[in-house]
Amino acid sequence: MGALRLGVNIDHVATLRNARGGFHPDTLRAAEAAAAAGADGITAHLREDRRHIRDEDIARLKETITLPLNFEMAATEEMTAIALRTKPHAACLVPEKRTERTTEGGLDVAGQHSHLAPVVRALSEAGIRVSLFIEAEPQQIEAARRVQAAVVELHTGAYCDAVAAGETAAAAKLLTALQEGARRAAGLGLEVHAGHGLTFESVGPVAAIPELAELNIGHFLIGEAVFIGLEAAIRRMRALMDAARAEATP
Ligand code: PXP
Repeated sequence: MGALRLGVNIDHVATLRNARGGFHPDTLRAAEAAAAAGADGITAHLREDRRHIRDEDIARLKETITLPLNFEMAATEEMTAIALRTKPHAACLVPEKRTERTTEGGLDVAGQHSHLAPVVRALSEAGIRVSLFIEAEPQQIEAARRVQAAVVELHTGAYCDAVAAGETAAAAKLLTALQEGARRAAGLGLEVHAGHGLTFESVGPVAAIPELAELNIGHFLIGEAVFIGLEAAIRRMRALMDAARAEATP
């Protein structure tokens, strides 16, 4: 079982900043705190409506941080041009709806092959590692392989919702789907990531999935930072991931 990286999503540091305008809290300072606390990467989603991260956040992050930058984006012409200009380490393609509060579901890679294939190709040719955010469904995983993405990120939102609601049977079923999806994706040669909605309570069983190489976690860490501080929240998440991984190692 390989090491499990932690990508810290700092979108909601920008949400808090934008609530008042101005510069505080600063996304760059959050990225530096994440690095100090043991994060392996910084993730940021530049939405079409710029509701949290803004263009200047992406430019400053790319210029300043030493950790790899994972640029979350919709597969639009505008975002592809920004990615090609910025050249982040990785780009994670996500579905985006203006009316959603957060990324609700995975990409329909199977249904959008002809739209996604040229975007994946252009980003990959620019040396950007392309990841597709999908549900852990066989047809989406196989479509991700066909479109020649290097990575899939499995959507953990439904599993985390079931854990939070105390729906044990539903959570177990959704966890099985994530485990099977990770196995299938790795079997096809894809690198496998996971994320969305992860908390201290839900992270362990996901971190224990042996094929996973990276988790991307944001909202819960920023929320928890209000109570215990960002670095402490990240360190605790990291410790829970490492403990689950160590326990799962045969
Ligand atoms: N991974 C992807 C692809 C996402 O879109 C998000 C949310 O922006 C996350 C991970 C992180 O989710 P959360 O903020 O719920 O931890």
